[in-house]
Amino acid sequence: MPITLPSPEINDIDLAPQGKKQIDWALQDMPVLQSIRERFLKEQPLKGVRISSCGHMTKELAALAITIQAGGADSMVIASNPITTQDDVAASLVKDYGLAIYAQRGESVDTYRRHVQLAVDFEPHIIMDDGGDVCAAMKNTRPDWCDSVWGSTEETTAGITRLKALDAQNALPWPAIGVNESKTKHLFDNRYGTGQSTLDSIMRACNILIAGKTVVIMGYGWCGRGCAMRAKGLGANVIVCEVDHMKALEAVMDGYRVMPISEASTLGDIFICITSNKHVIDTPHFAVMKDQAIICNAGHQNWEFNYDALKACSVTVTEPRPYVEGCVQADGRTIYALSQGRLVNLTAAEGHPASVMDMSFANQALAVEYLVKNKGNLGNHLMTLPAELDYNIAKLKLASMGIAIDSMTPAMLEYMSSWNMGT
Ligand code: ADE
Repeated sequence: MPITLPSPEINDIDLAPQGKKQIDWALQDMPVLQSIRERFLKEQPLKGVRISSCGHMTKELAALAITIQAGGADSMVIASNPITTQDDVAASLVKDYGLAIYAQRGESVDTYRRHVQLAVDFEPHIIMDDGGDVCAAMKNTRPDWCDSVWGSTEETTAGITRLKALDAQNALPWPAIGVNESKTKHLFDNRYGTGQSTLDSIMRACNILIAGKTVVIMGYGWCGRGCAMRAKGLGANVIVCEVDHMKALEAVMDGYRVMPISEASTLGDIFICITSNKHVIDTPHFAVMKDQAIICNAGHQNWEFNYDALKACSVTVTEPRPYVEGCVQADGRTIYALSQGRLVNLTAAEGHPASVMDMSFANQALAVEYLVKNKGNLGNHLMTLPAELDYNIAKLKLASMGIAIDSMTPAMLEYMSSWNMGT
């Protein structure tokens, strides 16, 4: 039996009016998701489906939560990170939309884990995950319910890495859709969303001039490409550090300097980690960084740079501004760590703007509907959303922007499908 959910756990219900304004602000820039919400209201494709969602509790996630609710689901939502919740948004979802929300900015890791367990013990048919913690907890603590899960969706590269590891061992207990693999997710959210929100958060936290600074980008995936592009656009000299030869070569040809972190450590003014890996910047690198170097993480997990080791090797830690810790070293240098190593763009800024989350969360909503429609017919593997659904999101987004494109003439179509029209 699923548990009866306890009362919502949020920080301050009185923030609801402000949260409602924020949600309305986001909704006006999320036309694709809104069109899905209107269809869901009519068709009720999720009627009676129990859904546990986990995500960064932002005004944009609110738009997804009310879309899932519009589809008729019986849902609950937990925060995917202890310090990224927008408390006003959480309050409005409870007060204005009657949703079961468990998200408190500044919640302890123990509270976060208790909320994850609530999401598991709700015995969901569908899990919407962001980072993989709900899926991992389901597998570890409720093997009895795993066979009853119709499927899960995963938002991030970090979560997909975990699902890939499970899939490689043939140990995925249900079909999982890697939403991040959709083109309308990673080509836009990761590149333009992370690119903009990460630079925005560094500027909000530190109010420093980016022009003329040396910015070191750790990782040249789609998020790294976006951060590099935006840093360059603001006048920075960009260095890229990579472990993948193909991506490193691409970074070189995109015009960036590429070198190992052991060399870049001495050159950087700002370090942005966006690798989905662990401890890519560590004690030997901290030891040679410039005085006043800034280091931050834009990846899902808070261990991309070794924040604990940085604190441990500091003689004192100051807090000159919110989200900025000055880690003073024995030799007098100060290294500034942002947001305690957690996602800088969702802590020191507001995450990606609504316009780009529109596509990411349209993918989430359609992935949930796909799992429901195809319940029992999908293998227990990691998969992507069918390409036609992905392309339809691009089509709807362009239409919402009032942009028309060409279509192929019959002669072009014939040419594209022939094999015998050579010179
Ligand atoms: N991840 C990055 N930006 C986000 C946002 N605005 N809402 C939810 N998750 C996000």
